[in-house]
Amino acid sequence: MTVSRRRFLQSASATLGSLALPSVPTGAGAPAAWETICTTPAPALASTRIVASANAIPLTAGVCQRRIRDEGPETTLWAFNGTSPGPALRYRQGDTVEVLVSNRLPQPTTVHWHGLRLPNAMDGVPNVTQPPILPGSSFAVRYAAIDAGTYWYHPHQSSFEQVPRGLYGMLVVEEAKPPRVDRELEWVLADFKLDKANRQVEDFGRVRDFGSEGRLGNVVTLNGTAAGANRAIDVRPGERVRVRLLNAASARAFVLEFGGLAPWIVTYDGQAVQPHPVPDGRLHLGAGQRTDLVIDVPDAAGRRVVTDRRGGGEALVALACVGRPVRAKPPGRPAAIAPNRLAEPDVAKATDHYLVFEGGIGGEPAIGRVDGKALRVEDIMKKHGLAWTMNYTTQQEHAMMHEPLFRFRRGEHVTLKLMNNTDYEHPIPLHGHFFRVLALNDVKTRLREWRDTVMIDARGSADIAFVAENVGEWMFHCHILDHAAGGMMGTVVVEG
Ligand code: C2O
Repeated sequence: MTVSRRRFLQSASATLGSLALPSVPTGAGAPAAWETICTTPAPALASTRIVASANAIPLTAGVCQRRIRDEGPETTLWAFNGTSPGPALRYRQGDTVEVLVSNRLPQPTTVHWHGLRLPNAMDGVPNVTQPPILPGSSFAVRYAAIDAGTYWYHPHQSSFEQVPRGLYGMLVVEEAKPPRVDRELEWVLADFKLDKANRQVEDFGRVRDFGSEGRLGNVVTLNGTAAGANRAIDVRPGERVRVRLLNAASARAFVLEFGGLAPWIVTYDGQAVQPHPVPDGRLHLGAGQRTDLVIDVPDAAGRRVVTDRRGGGEALVALACVGRPVRAKPPGRPAAIAPNRLAEPDVAKATDHYLVFEGGIGGEPAIGRVDGKALRVEDIMKKHGLAWTMNYTTQQEHAMMHEPLFRFRRGEHVTLKLMNNTDYEHPIPLHGHFFRVLALNDVKTRLREWRDTVMIDARGSADIAFVAENVGEWMFHCHILDHAAGGMMGTVVVEG
């Protein structure tokens, strides 16, 4: 089927102005624009045997120069197809995702498809689901997009370095019947840590970041360029806008305020939720999480500024209301999006499990096991460069010598209590599954929302439930990628 490719091109032509995400290269055989952007001599692509059909979208990780800040020189980035964010891949529910991932980076990589329920072999986790893609080689990806929603892709190899260097992109699976809106926007939030000459600060992999809040950038970006009050999107009075929000930052969480707008939340992590206003007017978006909003632009002209309260009230972008009204009166609460078909966990028959997070710089004394040996967490930091434990063990990224945290039978109903005994918050994704969030900090959630990534407050907890239905070994880790590299990374096995 060529539908997915066609959808791509449509999305390309629908892009708007400088705030739009880049589109994919068009037309087989035509020189792709990004090839001329990649500046670093790329290793020749080895002639590995690749089984990729003619419909496969090429997705090449390489080194390139892009403008992030208005002032000063361009920045050397790692990016997919020469742009950061990489191309927004757009499909319809049920389409086949076919991508040929090629590596022109100076180190091995893999691409993980965050949130998508796909076969384990397509999950893109080095040494767990596939060998790393070496510089100069490729990997063919093919799976069905069974669930509608807002997703994303990023490397799972050395992600604490590869993601903040610029490797990430959005993947959208459109509903069969999308809610009616006048305009759709895709907003990828991230950050870069730049010096005065706009160079990326080369301080990846410090234990001090692993063990604290992570390596934060100093330039927050929206769709790849510096966010700020000077960024504006023109909208019309009365317009109904759907915004797909992704936090692709490697460590930063956002707390967004919408400056006089009253958005409806319609999905969390791509999964439909009963449309509801942003609780307390502040949207918390942890690293890796997504939220879809429906915003009805008010009648009165003017600029509504979206700000990040977490970053001290920094303005990110404005919606500038201009022109003639689109409709006479606001359309009211949007209809709920049809939910994906997810297996409903039955808490009454579920097996109960627990996961305790400990460690971090300045935290309570903790003991953890490294390679079977119990150590104080200070020694774990000094000797092993790791900072955290999950159920009293810690491990290097994707290390193979460790037992999975849990083993479930296929079809097993599971409740899992995540207990954060650390002074830092942790956004925790489970690969290959969605789970219901039953409670946060022991308070029942009102909507029992589905998610693939749950934010656990410092010293807080989350109760989640799901049916272990996807066979394989799945990552379960912190999406503050420095924390993952610092030991907050394990796996869950579903035996089939
Ligand atoms: Cu987006 Cu394992 O993560």
